[in-house]
Amino acid sequence: MSKWTRALSAAPLLATAGLAAWDMSQKKHALLRNFPVIGHGRYLLETIGPELRQYIISTNDQERPFSRDQRSWIYASCKGENNYFGFGTDDDVEDNIGYPVIKHRTFTDSPPPSGTHSAEDVVLPSAKVLGGPRGRRLAFRPQSLINVSAMSFGSLSGAAIEAINKGVLLAGALHNTGEGALSPHHRQGGDLIFQIGTGYFGCRDREGRFDLERLKDVVAGAPVRAIEVKLSQGAKPGLGGVLPAAKLTQEIADIRGVEMGHDIVSPSRHGEFKDVDSMLDWVEKIADATGLPVGVKSAVGDLVFWEQLTQQMAKGDRGVDFVTVDGGEGGTGAAPLVFSDAVALPFFVGFTRVYSVFAEAGLTDSVTFIGSGKLGLPKAATVALALGVDMVNVAREAMLSIGCIQSQKCHTDKCPTGVATQNPWLVRGLDPASKSVRLAAYLRTVRRDLLKISEAVGVLHPGLIDPDDIELLEGTRHGVPLRGVYGYAPTWGVLGKDIAADITELMTREAPTGGSAAPSRSAAH
Ligand SMILES: Cc1cc2nc3c(=O)[nH]c(=O)nc-3n(C[C@H](O)[C@H](O)[C@H](O)COP(=O)(O)O)c2cc1C
Ligand code: SF4
Repeated sequence: MSKWTRALSAAPLLATAGLAAWDMSQKKHALLRNFPVIGHGRYLLETIGPELRQYIISTNDQERPFSRDQRSWIYASCKGENNYFGFGTDDDVEDNIGYPVIKHRTFTDSPPPSGTHSAEDVVLPSAKVLGGPRGRRLAFRPQSLINVSAMSFGSLSGAAIEAINKGVLLAGALHNTGEGALSPHHRQGGDLIFQIGTGYFGCRDREGRFDLERLKDVVAGAPVRAIEVKLSQGAKPGLGGVLPAAKLTQEIADIRGVEMGHDIVSPSRHGEFKDVDSMLDWVEKIADATGLPVGVKSAVGDLVFWEQLTQQMAKGDRGVDFVTVDGGEGGTGAAPLVFSDAVALPFFVGFTRVYSVFAEAGLTDSVTFIGSGKLGLPKAATVALALGVDMVNVAREAMLSIGCIQSQKCHTDKCPTGVATQNPWLVRGLDPASKSVRLAAYLRTVRRDLLKISEAVGVLHPGLIDPDDIELLEGTRHGVPLRGVYGYAPTWGVLGKDIAADITELMTREAPTGGSAAPSRSAAH
């Protein structure tokens, strides 16, 4: 073999080694850092995937939990890329039952749409002050209407938690700790909501009982803005949190105060209260001790809990500051299939039932409603806001923005992108600094789109879109306003006068300008 032939045959090997070295040292793609060279196969398949799927497998809208269109939109938005779609909708508008259509207005007093682009910031605070109605000492107006939902350190990697916390700091949003305590990874400067689950991780004594003094210490030592008491979660209501043993590291065990070597399964119910009456006493005790707004998170099944809650709150002396309603279609790190598939109502059915119970009791202005369950896309978020949701929480959409590819292996510790694993080799692939920028860009883009939709409807804030502004279609035959579909009375789904006036005033100050040319001399006004 000649010198040249030997050199030529060694070239592919050298090129592969060079590519592997490049893949492992770059920080942009977690998948390539963890799977050098072969990871490119996934990107190749992704590139030709649309064609393969179009002819052989599925359409852009068939995949679940998030369709290809939805994921593409999140990926493009978080990278600040062109996230427009060309050639018109590929949704099956003609034959779809329950397809939402937002009704724009031709003329409006609101300023014309801003020219804000994907990932550029707009001001979009909550219309309601969290903890304001109950006079909590540390009540505040959340500056972002969209925030990151509860996901614990344990279900997610430390690097993912860091990326999220840095990302919410950049976007001025809130980061819910999840029920796995407040870890050092959460301390990157972003504002937190501290979640208390039935395991009381982070605020329990050696025997696993709730410890108020520890709670006071933990919230005082970090930028915690509110406390969320987790009653249940849409993907597994009636079950406590589950951290499979495969994902339990010594660091997590120390932070949670548990033993190594077995699954960490939280109890299905709280030990600190046993009914609505004792729960409200406990909520008031925590709010009083910390000064923070306190809310509950729950999936929706039987309505008796909500009826009793509103009956007791109507007396005025005790109450929750916010209610997070999680849809049955919500995500989880690990759950039995039957719970994910069949327990708890889907978000729109569950939320509207809960909202109706609060509305019957005249309490909708006294609480902030937070919604979660695939609401991190502007169309779904708009429908939720029209039905009375004040703020939207996103979990899996945030994961997608920091690199998740929806491989659905979160329960195995084999997450290929380092998002939902504790395997150090896989976690190494996720660079918190660059992923935080992506999360922030995604959150900003949702805010931008929600503001643009409000402008199309002719209002200054998406909280002012009401249930008459959206119809659900029955194919091309018929459309029914949300108000009729969900049996809302005329005043339901509408903000109280004072709240509406405050947010209108705030948005008028902040309203973007631009959009239309100056009127000509012959203009009609
Ligand atoms: C990996 C993962 C971990 C989660 N951990 C928690 C948790 O600790 N506490 C909780 O209340 N919800 C938890 N959830 C549920 C989410 O907070 C959220 O309610 C649900 O996924 C719906 O939002 P989404 O559709 O935007 O994902 C988790 C979800 C995922 C995907
Ligand atoms: S890439 Fe797969 S395993 Fe990792 S977080 Fe996403 S869905 Fe879970």
